[in-house]
Parts: sequence; structure tokens; C-alpha cells
Amino acid sequence: MSRSAHPAGPRHADVLPEGHYSAPPADLNALDAKVWAQTVTRDEHGVVTVGGVDVKALAEEHGTPAYVLDESDFRARARAWRTAFGAGADVFYAGKAFLSRAVVRWLHEEGLNLDVCSGGELATALSAGMPADRIALHGNNKSTQEIERAVRAGVGRIVLDSFQEIVRVAHIAQSLGKRQRVQIRITVGVEAHTHEFIATAHEDQKFGIPLAGGQAAEAVRRALKLDGLELIGIHSHIGSQIFDMSGFEVAAHRVVGLLKAIRDEHGVELPEIDLGGGLGIAYTSADDPREPHEIAKALTEIVTRECEAARLRTPRISVEPGRAIVGPTAFTLYEVGTVKPLDGLRTYVSVDGGMSDNIRTALYDAEYSVALVSRTSDAAPMLARVVGKHCESGDIVVKDAFLPGDLAPGDLIAVPATGAYCRSMASNYNHVPRPPVVVVADGASRVIVRRETEEDLLRLDVG
Ligand code: LLP
Repeated sequence: MSRSAHPAGPRHADVLPEGHYSAPPADLNALDAKVWAQTVTRDEHGVVTVGGVDVKALAEEHGTPAYVLDESDFRARARAWRTAFGAGADVFYAGKAFLSRAVVRWLHEEGLNLDVCSGGELATALSAGMPADRIALHGNNKSTQEIERAVRAGVGRIVLDSFQEIVRVAHIAQSLGKRQRVQIRITVGVEAHTHEFIATAHEDQKFGIPLAGGQAAEAVRRALKLDGLELIGIHSHIGSQIFDMSGFEVAAHRVVGLLKAIRDEHGVELPEIDLGGGLGIAYTSADDPREPHEIAKALTEIVTRECEAARLRTPRISVEPGRAIVGPTAFTLYEVGTVKPLDGLRTYVSVDGGMSDNIRTALYDAEYSVALVSRTSDAAPMLARVVGKHCESGDIVVKDAFLPGDLAPGDLIAVPATGAYCRSMASNYNHVPRPPVVVVADGASRVIVRRETEEDLLRLDVG
């Protein structure tokens, strides 16, 4: 049966799961600005361009699959967060979303700080010239070596995650003749409305010290006694890909409650609170994320109000957005390989990457959009599932999306909003080399993370 005989008829609609694509969009060639990087548009030939460079040229020069990142969009989003919070607050970009030396330089230039959570991220940050005092070190199981490197480098803060770590960091700092600025990460007991694997403020999980049962207060007691530590504040991160601000509101309320208890018990007003990251982005047209200025206003108002009620000086606020800065700035460019219509079900569109460059669909049931980008098409929409080249059936990039019914091998398709947690969580499954990160700006492209090669893979294999 030919592909064009597979329009989205009623039988297709029947198998549509509840979700964002309950009906084909009116115009498959349209690009919803919500999910695409800022400079993405179609040229007069219908080819999608980004930063003034068309995707066919990008595919030719850099190959596929490739993550294509819009530098001006990244800078604009970083700046928007910085400006929204103003001089009285600090924005720490969460490097786990995506980190490279170019990204570190942009952040430095745009006046942001950086949150790292491993020795590797710390090394990347320092090697690209991020001043150590603008770096925060996170992690629930930092090694002694990681702590030592961070203290020696002079990082601005270490976020303490356990009772053992309080002692460990204090000892290391003291043995190096230093006093390390630290925050204590607490779990405030909020159920964030997001996937279980990325919710982090309920008590039954590995991060932080529970506020419940007085444990956080005890952690503060211990930290205040140790000479190697300067306790500057309390940290709370409630989860990731969150749209609903009420979780932050409850978290801020509880963190301020702890600050008040600390003031009452110790006569100390801690000067800082960090409310973490976690703000959601649009992966499909159905998502409606908030703008940084709205978030800044809401968070600042909540903290100010809570502090006034508790008669506390309002602490300096910091936040740690990762996804909200880098997520929307990149798309993954794939070449279509096999196109396999399954009668009465859907059409499986195989691309030259898959779960090794985007594990989020398999891991979190994440939803993505997809578009044909190397041309426009007037063909009827077909219900498609975009799958990778890996050896398992869960290797799905986009679970349900409509693509033009004349899609053919060699076409280029792109999945937007893959800037966060795609390259940073990429793997070599099936010995598929990881794609490059290609940056576009002002009509030119350049590679900031090169494509992995088979030689790279073999170099590690020393047996
Ligand atoms: N701060 C802390 C302490 C964090 O643990 C995280 C994310 C962030 C900030 C940044 O969160 P964001 O603004 O990017 O949501 N791999 C998952 C997300 C895991 C997030 C881990 N921590 C995903 O692909 O959705």
C-alpha cells in the first residue's frame, strides 16, 4: 500500500492515545514558535532555516543526526532570566541540562552563574573560565576528590545534601585552611506535578535532608558549629518540567519557616535562599510555559511576603533554571530512513539516531513535536511514530505525531526543544556514536561538541 493511501482517517484517529495530537494540525508546514528556537523559520523554498542557515546545508556540512543550537536564542533566554531577577538575585544555570565550554563562556558573558553536579561539570566550567566564586557544587554523593577540588578552586557554594556531607566538607575545608560557603538542601515535602523520576521534594527519595521531623533544623545546628563551614542559606529544588507555581509557593513558605526557626533558635538570619530550577518548557503546542519575568515576580513576591510575615529580612534569592534556558534553543536534525506504514495503525518513520540521542521519550514518556524541515508538503497528514535505529521496540523519539503522508527516505525531519537533557543524557547504545552539537548564529554554523567517531569508541576499548 502506498504511503499516500495512509491519510489520517477514522481508523487512525481510533488508535490515537489521549494526548496532544488528538487531531492533525491545520497546517503541517507551520512551525509553532512556542516549540522552536527563536530564529527558526522557512525560507522561500520551504526549507527550514535557523540562525540564517538552512537545514539542508547543515546536514550536508555536519551530517545527521545533529543537535542544532541557536546561539542568539540561548543568549536571549539567559539574559531574560538575568534581567527578570535583577541585581538583587542570582541565576545559576543548571549545567546538567547541557554543558560545553562555549555554553560556559556565553553564561559568563551574560552574567549568569553556574550549577555543577560532578567533577566533570566542574572541570568544564573551570576550563572555560567561569570564575570559581560563581559556581555552585551540587550532588547527593559528591566524592571526597570532587569536594576537595571544589574547595581548592574556591567555588562560591557547596550545597550540602546529607549529614555525612556536612562533616566531610567541613573537614576538607578546614584541612585546606579554608572556610567554605555552603547551603543545606532540604526536602520540603511538596509533591511536584511532574514525572515521578524528576520530582525531588517529596521525602521518600535520595536528595536533601527532610524538613519533617526536625532533621533539617538539626542539620543547620550541626553546620553552624563547624569552623570549616560558612552557612549562607537553605536550598530547595522541587522537581523538573513544572508549570504550576503552587509547588514553589509551598516550598518558599516552608523554607522561610525554617529561616524563622533558625533565627529564633540561633539568633542568625541566613542571607540566602535557593529555590532550585524546574520550570517547564513547551515540547508541544499544548504546553504553556511561563515567562522568566512572571516567574521572577511570583517567586520574589512569595518570598518577600513570607519574610514580612515572619519579620525576617528578605534573603537574597537564587534560582537554577536549566531546561528553561537551553531546552527550546535546539532541535535534533535527523534524516528519514525506513518508512513503514502499518495498515490501520500508524506509520513508523525510522531516523538515523534514536534513544541514544534522546532517551527522554523512553524514560519519562516525554512528548515531542516533529516537522518535515527539508521541504514543505501538501500531502495529507499521516499518523506517525518517529523511531530510532536501536535494537529495541521502546526506541521511540516521538510517540505520536502527524507528518505529511508523502514523507520519504532522505527527507530531513527535526524534533524541536531537545536542547536540555538530550545530549547530556546521550549514550553509545549499540555503539552508535553520539551526535555533534552545531551552533548557528548570524548566517554561519560551527561545531561546539564534535560528533563522536567509531575511533573514539574503539579508543576506550583497551582489552
Ligand atoms: N537544580 C537542581 C538541584 C537540580 O537537581 C536540577 C535538575 C535543576 C536545578 C535544573 O532543573 P531544570 O530547570 O532543568 O528543570 N533528566 C530529566 C531532568 C532531571 C533534572 C535533574 N535536576 C529530564 O530530562 O527531564
